[in-house]
Amino acid sequence: MSNRHAIVLAAGQGKRMKSSLYKVLHPVCGKPMVQHVIDQLNALKLQEIITIVGHGAEQVQEQIGEDSRFMIQEEQLGTGHAVQQAESVLGGQKGTTLVVCGDTPLLTSETLEALLDFHEKEEAKVTLLTAHADDPSGYGRIVRNENQDVAKIVEQKDATEQEQRIQEINTGTYCFDNEALFEALQHVSNNNAQGEYYLPDVIEILKNRNEKIGAFQTKSFDETLGVNDRVALSKAEQAMKRRINEYHMRNGVTLIDPDHTYIGLNVTIGQDAVIYPGSTIDGETAIDSGVEIGPNSEIKNCIIGQDTTIKQSVAHDSLIGARVKIGPYAHIRPSSKLADDVKVGNFVEIKKATFGEGSKASHLSYIGDAEVGNEVNIGCGTITVNYDGENKYLTTIQDGAFIGCNSNLVAPVTIGEGAYVAAGSTITDDVPNSSLSIARSRQTNKEGYVEKMKNKNNN
Ligand code: UD1
Ligand code: MG
Repeated sequence: MSNRHAIVLAAGQGKRMKSSLYKVLHPVCGKPMVQHVIDQLNALKLQEIITIVGHGAEQVQEQIGEDSRFMIQEEQLGTGHAVQQAESVLGGQKGTTLVVCGDTPLLTSETLEALLDFHEKEEAKVTLLTAHADDPSGYGRIVRNENQDVAKIVEQKDATEQEQRIQEINTGTYCFDNEALFEALQHVSNNNAQGEYYLPDVIEILKNRNEKIGAFQTKSFDETLGVNDRVALSKAEQAMKRRINEYHMRNGVTLIDPDHTYIGLNVTIGQDAVIYPGSTIDGETAIDSGVEIGPNSEIKNCIIGQDTTIKQSVAHDSLIGARVKIGPYAHIRPSSKLADDVKVGNFVEIKKATFGEGSKASHLSYIGDAEVGNEVNIGCGTITVNYDGENKYLTTIQDGAFIGCNSNLVAPVTIGEGAYVAAGSTITDDVPNSSLSIARSRQTNKEGYVEKMKNKNNN
């Protein structure tokens, strides 16, 4: 393999985004656009990646970190000028230089690899990645001569009416013979509608010298989408979402309505899982086979075991076992651990709590900072009173305990193995194993009281 480098253009502020965030840092499916590009380049095993960043774009450098070397483009004078910033590193080297824009997040390493191979096989001085666009507006157009060879690229703002009708577009991705690139860049001027040094002008310069210009047309326009404004950002998000969702469906996951299912890039899902509409599954989440999620659920950074169901619920940063039933309307907050066969029903909030196998909190409870053993039954309306305004305290409920409805367990407190807590109790002291604890005032019935009151009022 020859000497291969890549230059990523990421110095533009992105005025059309109308944002305080650098354009290439806007996320697509949760990952900054430029990181998508870098990740795909990393798969190509290039000698080095050089990213061109604007003055003061420390955030871009922080995001990319050690995956790239950085060159600063002090003033954004155009894409040609941006590439020139890499000359001090690459100038004079033999080999191929791939140039990619930081605002094309959907490009895949497969397409880039195919472009590199095609370029090197054809021994062209430059090979363009082009695409057919149904609506080419905003893109540079590929102008071909009578032999159908590429003659030049013309930018939208500089194009004649006839040129504007061309639907073959410049994707902003190119392979160059490295020496020819830097030599030709010296002859690029800024005599155009935007007063910028355009990288695409290198094509016409090389063509006029009768150098070989190649064009590699990708079948997928989606993949080459360039994001210049928020409308395009939403299109990129949709296309990436479709790509992720199709990947899971091909792997044996049922998505009832893929247009309304949002799955992050690092999520893994086992076979025969079913995801219902309106669900967002994100972060480092691993879902085992047969799991059912949704509708309308939000899962982030969770590990979920086989055949668990989560309906209309939120779960973050937690471990959830197999055959667990969650929801509807449950909230599993961070650091919770639910063992196999647990049930967390409607309007139950769990925070930093562990539940042993087969334990249940079926309705309307708050269980926070708690260790719940196996086969525990937590009645409707139970609350672990874990906070005194300053500190949080632990509630321990041991195996087989039964907590009656509407109980307050004032932590720190332990309910012993097999113990019963009577409904409506406020427990402030530990309950020994196998005992019944009643902590409420006794009921008094005043017989005939109502009649007596009525008579009194009538007199
Ligand atoms: C560019 C191409 C256009 C192509 C389109 C594909 C030029 C002149 N036009 O247009 O032919 O169809 O991409 O998406 O190249 N950048 C710098 N420094 C600069 C200017 C830009 O680093 O001085 C970076 C930007 O951060 C961006 C990339 O270069 O990532 C492309 O710039 P952008 O302004 O988005 O160009 P387009 O108008 O999209
Ligand atoms: Mg662009």
